Amino acid sequence: MSPTWPVVGLAIVSDDDCIADETGSTPASLRNDADWQRFQAELDACAVTVLGRLGHVAHGNARNRLRIVVSSSSPGLERRPDGWWWNPAAMPWPQAIARVLPDGGRVAVPGGQGVFDLFLTLGYAEFHLTRARSVRVPRGRTLFSGIGPGRTAEDLLAAAALVPGDPVAVDATAGVTMVPWVRPG
Ligand SMILES: NC(=O)c1ccc[n+]([C@@H]2O[C@H](COP(=O)([O-])OP(=O)(O)OC[C@H]3O[C@@H](n4cnc5c(N)ncnc54)[C@H](OP(=O)(O)O)[C@@H]3O)[C@@H](O)[C@H]2O)c1
Repeated sequence: MSPTWPVVGLAIVSDDDCIADETGSTPASLRNDADWQRFQAELDACAVTVLGRLGHVAHGNARNRLRIVVSSSSPGLERRPDGWWWNPAAMPWPQAIARVLPDGGRVAVPGGQGVFDLFLTLGYAEFHLTRARSVRVPRGRTLFSGIGPGRTAEDLLAAAALVPGDPVAVDATAGVTMVPWVRPG
């Protein structure tokens, strides 16, 4: 059987679809312990984590997971001491992931926005969209760049041919809920 690389997007967003504040930092209001545990377990279930350079630099890799760092500074795909560095403009995704995981494997995508946008085009198998209810992040950084008046995260996931599954209560007291969006078939 040919190897496959199902891509799973993972994000927690505010009511106004933001992943970070205007400075690029994740506000405390978007941090939730139960979601963090669930997020870490999903990363553990994946063979590689693909993330933007800023997120890579900001979040140390204490568990020494295999990472692909997305950056325009890479000539294509190269192995550095801290992981694989990949430039999507210089090497297509199928070629890059086949080199990193030749036997296939599940791929976690925890963002940020540029990386979430990239895989909206390349294709998610799943997107775990967690919402922290009653949280707003004025002037914040949205999950996808295409989010705006009249265009929500859910609109863009649906336009990318994903369908929502049943909501999962991550932390009922805090109003944190995750909806798994899945590509049919
Ligand atoms: N709430 C959430 O679920 C969530 C999820 C993700 C991130 N965050 C938060 O958001 C912040 C970081 O996110 P961010 O969006 O500011 O930055 P980021 O995605 O971590 O990093 C941005 C960098 O990634 C590279 N990059 C991204 N897309 C690229 C593309 N298509 N081609 C080439 N390079 C690309 C570029 O690096 P070069 O400049 O080297 O080219 C860009 O400067 C952090 O605070 C993080 O904690 C929150």
